[in-house]
Amino acid sequence: MTILGIETSCDETAAALVKDGRRVLKSLVASQLEVHKPFRGVVPELASRAHVERINEVIARTLKGHGSAVHAIAVTTGPGLVGCLLVGVTTAQTWGWVRHLPVIGVNHLEGHLFAGLVEHPNLKPPFLGLIVSGGHTELVIFYGYGRYRRLGATRDDAAGEAFDKVANLLGLPFPGGPAIDRTALRGRPDAVAFPRAWIPGTWDFSFSGIKTSVANYLKERRRKRESTADLCASFQEAIVDVLVKKTMSAAAAYHLRSIVVGGGVAANSRLRARFLQAAHRENVNVYLPDLHFCTDNAAMIAAAGFYKFRHKVGLHNSLSVDANLPIRSWVKA
Ligand code: KG4
Ligand code: ZN
Repeated sequence: MTILGIETSCDETAAALVKDGRRVLKSLVASQLEVHKPFRGVVPELASRAHVERINEVIARTLKGHGSAVHAIAVTTGPGLVGCLLVGVTTAQTWGWVRHLPVIGVNHLEGHLFAGLVEHPNLKPPFLGLIVSGGHTELVIFYGYGRYRRLGATRDDAAGEAFDKVANLLGLPFPGGPAIDRTALRGRPDAVAFPRAWIPGTWDFSFSGIKTSVANYLKERRRKRESTADLCASFQEAIVDVLVKKTMSAAAAYHLRSIVVGGGVAANSRLRARFLQAAHRENVNVYLPDLHFCTDNAAMIAAAGFYKFRHKVGLHNSLSVDANLPIRSWVKA
């Protein structure tokens, strides 16, 4: 069964075709990077407009050569920017109506976890999921397709948000995550001991303190010996340290032998290296999506849509969008 996925929750206009929830036939992403770069952040109105301008062409190019093979359309209904979500949902429903295809609503966060399944046919639930994106940082037990338990989440900034804000403080270009990742390669991770918020007794995270700490560090002008590269490497190490150690502890506490890391920050080279080291040491399998499937894409939405479609869940004639849609089970235990 082949699902057409559509994703427009933030600043990537994406469509993909995925067969049986795992095999990606095509995945296209039209990036809006150039639109938002001058503003050093995503401007919601410009993002919605850019989606409107591009979405139909991205879908048409995705379907080229595969048009008749599609069984259903899956689209992100939240969380995300309302105007952007509306473009995706309206477009999906229009294509569904024209082509007589059912349309399935998918949670974007759930999608980031399904990104781990996309290229790993051997991966089966249960596993522990870590979602690290620009808007979210969540630890979720993935008991089965549609059966989740949220263990914890960030209490303030998301990991990606911290990367973006600190990059701004350091005068690095937007988007901040990749810029810090690149710059950190030339720096020393132990140059500055930035604080780690462990929040003992919970699986929650907090990343606003470290951002403030970098800001104070810069204000006090102690930046004599440390280069921007050293500051990037030290900041990145503090974030990665918390993400890796907390996730490994949660996996041990809940006896889970597989971990999936999804979301834009999962593209971070240091995070990937540290997770692979920890996995080797503790004999756990860590699944890291290919870089294209870490950041926003529609293959992950199509993959999640396949399992919902199989369970006949999420099919509506009129889908609504929700900017704050939480990750929720759709199969009863
Ligand atoms: O998942 P995503 O594409 O969009 C959201 O759902 O938010 O994640 C975007 C976030 C941004 O904050 C971006 O700076 C971060 O992912 N990111 C990275 C890297 N690539 C993207 N953060 C750290 N290192 C990277 N290599
Ligand atoms: Zn995302």
